[in-house]
Amino acid sequence: MAVNVGLIGAGHIAHALAEGWSRPDVPRQPSLVFFDVDAAKAGELAAATGGAAAATAAELLMRADLVIVAVRPQHVEDVLRDIGAALGERPVVSVAAGVTLERLQAALPTAARVGRVMPNVAAALGQGLFMLVSGTLGSSVGEVEALFALAGDVVEVDEALFDAATAVAGCMPGIIAHLVAAFAAAGVAHGLAEDVAVQLAVSGVNGAAAIVAREGDPAAVLAAAATPGGMTAAAVEALEERELALTVDIAVAAAIARAKELA
Ligand SMILES: NC(=O)c1ccc[n+]([C@@H]2O[C@H](COP(=O)([O-])OP(=O)(O)OC[C@H]3O[C@@H](n4cnc5c(N)ncnc54)[C@H](OP(=O)(O)O)[C@@H]3O)[C@@H](O)[C@H]2O)c1
Repeated sequence: MAVNVGLIGAGHIAHALAEGWSRPDVPRQPSLVFFDVDAAKAGELAAATGGAAAATAAELLMRADLVIVAVRPQHVEDVLRDIGAALGERPVVSVAAGVTLERLQAALPTAARVGRVMPNVAAALGQGLFMLVSGTLGSSVGEVEALFALAGDVVEVDEALFDAATAVAGCMPGIIAHLVAAFAAAGVAHGLAEDVAVQLAVSGVNGAAAIVAREGDPAAVLAAAATPGGMTAAAVEALEERELALTVDIAVAAAIARAKELA
């Protein structure tokens, strides 16, 4: 497994990954080195996770045997062109939405080992979900999988399905946070204190996700939870009258469309 991991871009997702990899219970923690155009961000992330900050991408490369590109999509190709010549055998993984393998390869020397991973911020807790497109990683795919597996589950997907898988899973923490806020606001509207409402909504989501995961069948959990004529049934009926399933489908389609716009 890669022991020296370089992250280019020290923003939100780099933070979540680095936090996930530096949890005390992670066996054989990788050593992390960060570079960001904003040196203060790289320094802060290094201090928070026990890693190091590099002053330039070239310095990061000298200290890393696997490179993760965690900049916003419009900056990815510039980063790759910058590091390409010195990359050598080091595998490089882009976590950017929308930037296709074809574009990544075009910005790198022909022999480069490159793949894509779509993480989510639950990586910070070791509960991430990582969609992997192995691309030209070749024999390096195992070490990439092993690295991400330290912070959650890795699922290999066909790139053609990458955006759909991302919309359903990669975007989920943000979408659920949005739903939690909506449920908490409804609780407040019906008299709960705000902190209590947030706590109840978060706890409800946690328990619900755990029981659906254990049962493996959302419909069975719904059938068990929604007693006919009961409160849950009334809430679900109200959601379905407003076409929740259609709304969710529209949301997923919007996320996929945005990925295509970024491509
Ligand atoms: N956030 C998520 O939950 C999430 C989930 C999955 C995938 N992603 C992907 O992860 C990538 C980063 O997202 P993010 O939310 O972490 O963005 P972010 O918080 O804006 O972090 C990106 C960082 O990269 C820096 N940067 C820009 N150009 C650079 C360069 N040439 N070299 C080094 N650093 C550079 C940015 O600096 P400036 O701000 O000064 O430009 C910023 O500090 C995106 O491509 C996104 O699609 C994000």
